[in-house]
Amino acid sequence: MGGKRLILMGPPGGGKGTQAKRLQDRYGIVQLSTGDMLRAAVKAGTPLGKQAKAVMDAGKLVSDDIMVGLIAERIAAPDAVRGFILDGFPRPVPQAQALDKLLKDKGITLDGVIEVAVPDAKLIERITGRFTCAKCGEGYHDKFKQPKKAGVCDMCGGTEFIRRADDKAETVVARLKAYHDQTAPLLPHYKAQGLLREIDGDREMDVVTSDLESVLGT
Ligand code: AP5
Repeated sequence: MGGKRLILMGPPGGGKGTQAKRLQDRYGIVQLSTGDMLRAAVKAGTPLGKQAKAVMDAGKLVSDDIMVGLIAERIAAPDAVRGFILDGFPRPVPQAQALDKLLKDKGITLDGVIEVAVPDAKLIERITGRFTCAKCGEGYHDKFKQPKKAGVCDMCGGTEFIRRADDKAETVVARLKAYHDQTAPLLPHYKAQGLLREIDGDREMDVVTSDLESVLGT
């Protein structure tokens, strides 16, 4: 897999965001996370954020028109010219169809679609234990990745941490259902295009990163 225009797929809490950030630094490409874009809109109180908040809090999917528009804009931005990792997009089949058309119109070819696979039983613990630094966004976990000094962010020294509103156990169940019903059907779509590679995400973070780097090459 030579190039660096990628889709990172996988269930909620599977480690897409964790790994996309590492790949972004490693390969000098940009992480395009639709979840992060929506959370920024919610935080800023924009009309999109107001519309998306209730949908996200229920663990459901925001409308395809909105999501396709957001991604079309981001892929066209200068920082995506050297490459990108789509994280959280596409989700239902119509988004994948819209992405195929968008890329074709722009003459962009995908280099790969990587599924980070993790069994459902592990995901609830991963998600409900997650928290991030309020200042720089560095991600942590109650059990799997605690700050080196309790209560202080390793990256920026911040002391305030936040948890996502949709990380409650009951919402996670709805998010998992949305993944299995609406997003997992994309896997055969990309397999048929010869783009799909599966990585076992149920191992330590560094091992998963090494596997991804082996698949992606230098
Ligand atoms: P989004 O933000 O995309 O959420 P998600 O897909 O549910 O994924 P997460 O961010 O929860 O998990 P992740 O796979 O990135 O895992 P992470 O690395 O953080 O979407 C949120 C919502 O926005 C959706 O529900 C929907 O409403 C809306 N939305 C977004 N995109 C949309 C779209 N295209 N269309 C419609 N609606 C859309 O890891 C999780 C935790 O586990 C962390 O604490 C981490 O430290 C830990 N961890 C990671 N890897 C490991 C490991 N190997 N071992 C142990 N712990 C690990």
